[in-house]
Amino acid sequence: MTPFDYRPAAPDAARGRVLGTNPVITSREVNGRRLAGSEGMPDAHYTDPRLVTLYDRENTWGADDDRFRELVGARGPCRVVDLGCGTGRLTLALAADGHGVTGVDPAAASLDAARGKPGADQVTWVHGEAADLATDSADVVLMSSHVAQVFTDDDEWMQTLGHLARALVPGGRLFFDSRDPDARAWERWGSTGRPALLETAQGPVRTWTEVDDVVGSRVSFTAHSVFPDGSRSLSRSTLVFRSEAELRADLVRAGLVVDAVDGDWRGEPVGASAGQLVVQAHR
Ligand SMILES: C[S@@+](CC[C@H](N)C(=O)[O-])C[C@H]1O[C@@H](n2cnc3c(N)ncnc32)[C@H](O)[C@@H]1O
Repeated sequence: MTPFDYRPAAPDAARGRVLGTNPVITSREVNGRRLAGSEGMPDAHYTDPRLVTLYDRENTWGADDDRFRELVGARGPCRVVDLGCGTGRLTLALAADGHGVTGVDPAAASLDAARGKPGADQVTWVHGEAADLATDSADVVLMSSHVAQVFTDDDEWMQTLGHLARALVPGGRLFFDSRDPDARAWERWGSTGRPALLETAQGPVRTWTEVDDVVGSRVSFTAHSVFPDGSRSLSRSTLVFRSEAELRADLVRAGLVVDAVDGDWRGEPVGASAGQLVVQAHR
């Protein structure tokens, strides 16, 4: 189980070994603003083209995508913003369903990968973040695959929610998922003691995760990748695990109404087993 792949078939990762010494990408700004997320930028996992390819390899269509697609579809054809759209797996499917979709992400390499996929011309791609969204422009806003957890700074999180509330039309809906801190997922990241092998067109890539630090609700970790040519990459990240109560309170503070918080993408109660917080709210 890794932070980048929460699905049951996820490859296990080893802990306790450090092979890579490549520099981690440091500061990053988009549209003149410092970005939210660990160290104020998207992690190398989303900005290094080789790691972006691995992200797509690990993150194929799943139950979360089915659920978000169903929630959006219940509204009929509408204007959807996918914030933190990454490489566009769900973004493209929603466009194919007939929605008017805008995919927003501050990681150019992820957007480049998305733009290269079939159907990409049906999506408006924005290199940016929530502040770039126009007022009253969306019927639905999505943050899928735990994008909500990249906002480790509470002020930036609240500003982001404020921008999403502003971007939604009255009655417009917000859907996102976040890992439930009570399930302590980070304790299983990198717990098997052996790297996973990911098959790619260039050959097998060895990957593993080390949890570096847990400070309150913030978990820092390093994802290691060793490529077939022997080169290595590190991606350092911090994610925040907000509780259901915190998420509910933050949404209300942002002027949104919470409709439901489920414990997984099939609608089971919080705490039942899956360790997810799947949130539905509206303006
Ligand atoms: C786990 S990926 C999810 C990608 C996509 N939603 C999916 O389902 O595969 C997290 C994404 O959040 C993006 N991200 C990081 N900081 C962000 C910010 N400040 N605003 C919006 N997205 C951000 C990353 O670049 C990355 O594409």
